[in-house]
Amino acid sequence: MKNQVAILTGAAGGVGIATLEKLLERGARVVAVDVAKQVESLPARYGSNVVAVRDDVTQSAAADRAVRTALDTWSRLDMLLNVSGVTVPKNIVDITEEEWDRVMDGNAKSVFLMCKRAIPEFLRQGSGVIVNTASISSVVGLSGQSAYCASKGAVLQLTRQLAVEYASRNIRVNAVGPGAIDTPFLTRYFDAQPDPEATRKAVAAAHPMGRWAQPEEVASTIVYLASSEASFVTGTILMVDGGYTAA
Ligand SMILES: NC(=O)c1ccc[n+]([C@@H]2O[C@H](COP(=O)([O-])OP(=O)(O)OC[C@H]3O[C@@H](n4cnc5c(N)ncnc54)[C@H](O)[C@@H]3O)[C@@H](O)[C@H]2O)c1
Repeated sequence: MKNQVAILTGAAGGVGIATLEKLLERGARVVAVDVAKQVESLPARYGSNVVAVRDDVTQSAAADRAVRTALDTWSRLDMLLNVSGVTVPKNIVDITEEEWDRVMDGNAKSVFLMCKRAIPEFLRQGSGVIVNTASISSVVGLSGQSAYCASKGAVLQLTRQLAVEYASRNIRVNAVGPGAIDTPFLTRYFDAQPDPEATRKAVAAAHPMGRWAQPEEVASTIVYLASSEASFVTGTILMVDGGYTAA
């Protein structure tokens, strides 16, 4: 990935940081996008191959700023890695319309906006790679995750649609499908449960490997899908779920 340029959303989160580190190890240069303030500390921590953009990826202006930053800074764009995501863990009766929209916008609309802005640059350049962060909830139902399942299902279907549409134009589009991952996202979920410890045990037990993933295990799959090692892989979801969806 030497001198290749990536846009990475959700860069300040658990999977985001792990992905950033692996991209930099491989020589890539990264536009790190996140709505959280911590994103601004990434260039000082990781050096001049990282540029930070603090932005909300549910807004089209954020996609524009991210792509412009890549082009203005390094004059190219090779990878779009959509990692940011949100959940409001509620069933369909309890979730409000505002919460539903927040999850659908955070997970599905953001991917739409980023892809819509990045793909014309890939077409101009003659190549490009997109990796979207789907989930086990793209392919199975999870109780208490109505909007999250709907939004991650949309992410998977958009992944397939874009892969088919742009395969002949040298643009690959894939998704990673994690089970539970040890990040602040999961901690927030556990803390919101009536019995966090019992939920922790139940979530681990639901994965045949008896545990959840470390962020690096998901990051390495994202980087693999983005790399030339996956040159004939497009339109797929690679599950990183300890066997969850195989059971
Ligand atoms: N942690 C899990 O158990 C789990 C399981 C399956 C899938 N996922 C998915 O993995 C991805 C990474 O999640 P994580 O576990 O690292 O969570 P995380 O909460 O640690 O990181 C998510 C990051 O996305 C950022 N973000 C959220 N909304 C944004 C917005 N509108 N604009 C810009 N940035 C925004 C947050 O600020 C945060 O830094 C997400 O897409 C999530 O849905 C997580």
